[in-house]
Amino acid sequence: MLFDYVAGNVSLGRAFYLALHMANTLVLLGMLAVTAWLASHGEPAIRWRRAPGALLAALPVVVLLGMTGAIAALGDTLFPASSLRAGFSQDFSAAANFLVRLRGLHPALAVATAAFVIYAASAGMKTGRETRNAALTLWLLVLLQMVAGAVNIALLAPIWMQIVHLLVADLLWIALVLTTLRAAVAR
Ligand code: HEM
Repeated sequence: MLFDYVAGNVSLGRAFYLALHMANTLVLLGMLAVTAWLASHGEPAIRWRRAPGALLAALPVVVLLGMTGAIAALGDTLFPASSLRAGFSQDFSAAANFLVRLRGLHPALAVATAAFVIYAASAGMKTGRETRNAALTLWLLVLLQMVAGAVNIALLAPIWMQIVHLLVADLLWIALVLTTLRAAVAR
């Protein structure tokens, strides 16, 4: 294998590569959503306007949050906690691997990001009725993802819950892209 970023590899390079892979996946998924939307709303001449700055800013912020999520997932996979208490003391131990110490970053950033995305969605709602529906979906997905994240930690991140959390992250991302797109279309 070229870099050996598999199995028990705990290198910084693997964490960086996985985070980049997550960002790349989100960009691809976003492009796909935009393409599908444009194909199904194919008026020949769409008139564009500037989407609210908060929505535009939320795009890279959510990608960055997803990247920290990928690092948390790697930490959980390579260093599974035997209990909630053991997991938390591992997180704050100076002797723990950097992946374990970094995994607390994701939930903390998630709370701030969720507040920002909810604010951005509210700004989107003011731009028209169609944007309002997309922004409402975004709101609901943010709330659902916060619950899913908390359940994930409470259950010590079993595989099925990791998949649910990743699925909701993808849906939330698509909803954010489409809300921004909707807000950028003038009627
Ligand atoms: C807007 C909110 C959130 C987004 C977009 C998000 C996104 C993500 C993503 C993309 C992953 C990587 C999944 C994988 O590759 O398997 C992840 C992992 C994780 N997230 Fe979040 N997250 C959010 C909120 C939260 C919250 C609030 C918590 C905890 C309170 C949390 C806890 C975790 C944990 C423990 C992992 C590692 C285990 C796993 O892969 O599921 N997340 N998150």
